[in-house]
Amino acid sequence: MKGIILAAGNGSRLYPASLPISKILLPVYDKPMIYYPITTLLLAGIKDILVISGPYDLDNFKRLLGDGSQLGVKFSYAIQETPKGIADSFIIGEDFIEDSSVALILGDNIFHGFGFSSMLKEVSKRKQGATVFGYQVQDPERFGVVEFDKNNNAISIEEKPKEPKSNYAITGLYFYDNCVVDYAKTLKPSQRGELEITDLNKIYLEKNKLTVEILGRGFAWLDTGTFESLLQAGNFVQSMEINTGMKIAAIEEVACRMGNITPNQLIELSKKYKQNGYGKYLEKVALSL
Ligand code: DAU
Repeated sequence: MKGIILAAGNGSRLYPASLPISKILLPVYDKPMIYYPITTLLLAGIKDILVISGPYDLDNFKRLLGDGSQLGVKFSYAIQETPKGIADSFIIGEDFIEDSSVALILGDNIFHGFGFSSMLKEVSKRKQGATVFGYQVQDPERFGVVEFDKNNNAISIEEKPKEPKSNYAITGLYFYDNCVVDYAKTLKPSQRGELEITDLNKIYLEKNKLTVEILGRGFAWLDTGTFESLLQAGNFVQSMEINTGMKIAAIEEVACRMGNITPNQLIELSKKYKQNGYGKYLEKVALSL
């Protein structure tokens, strides 16, 4: 399975902070936002990742992440010239995806919770259909919303409905079989001029090939779309890290725990940051493995 991180869009809700630099490179507490979605893909066992950037930020992403070999993975890059919609990822990524199945994660989506790794491992094994994740929220009208029948089967999905049929938002993490490329090509722009990910998910729903996994109450799905929510996400990460002494989304640690790199390689990576707590943390983890 391959992975795509969609990190384009103009991030205008965070102007002026995101005017000179992609929102996805802004820090969430002690690391760039993109470390969080990278972690999610690494935990799913994905090693081949396409980063889709806006035209002005590509070099910054490359400077931060390189070719991925330091993490035992491969990063490729592509540009989305204008924000044509989330489902555009599969048209841009067609040559990258080839005949593989693919996971897409939005660059601004942060997931954290017990049991997530095993859930991701399970989901990434599925050969057919699509899997999305539902999460209960107070303001479903801001999201794609999924409605369930009495037996918890998904029966409808709507994008930003004025009158939501449930409180379950569909998060920005999606797993698809290889049909997704062909389905994406059949989509027409919505009223807001975008190729909607919700329209793509509807195709799978209509074919009875959509699984919705529920992320439960103990789980954190964090939004970074506004200054308030960005700060709250940073505060959440800080408080978890201080309480547990473990970092969330230190990609070098995750790569090592997933067996992509050895503890010795992790020690080498830690030297780059030896002046601060991040480097000391990586070194401590490496010595404990
Ligand atoms: O976060 C989950 C939600 O993401 C889903 O519940 C919705 O169904 C889905 O449409 C999406 O809603 P948003 O309103 O959050 O989408 P937004 O336009 O804000 O884009 C999300 C991220 O993707 C953002 O960081 C910008 C990036 N993006 C978006 C579009 C439309 C791109 O890189 N390119 C694009 O063309």
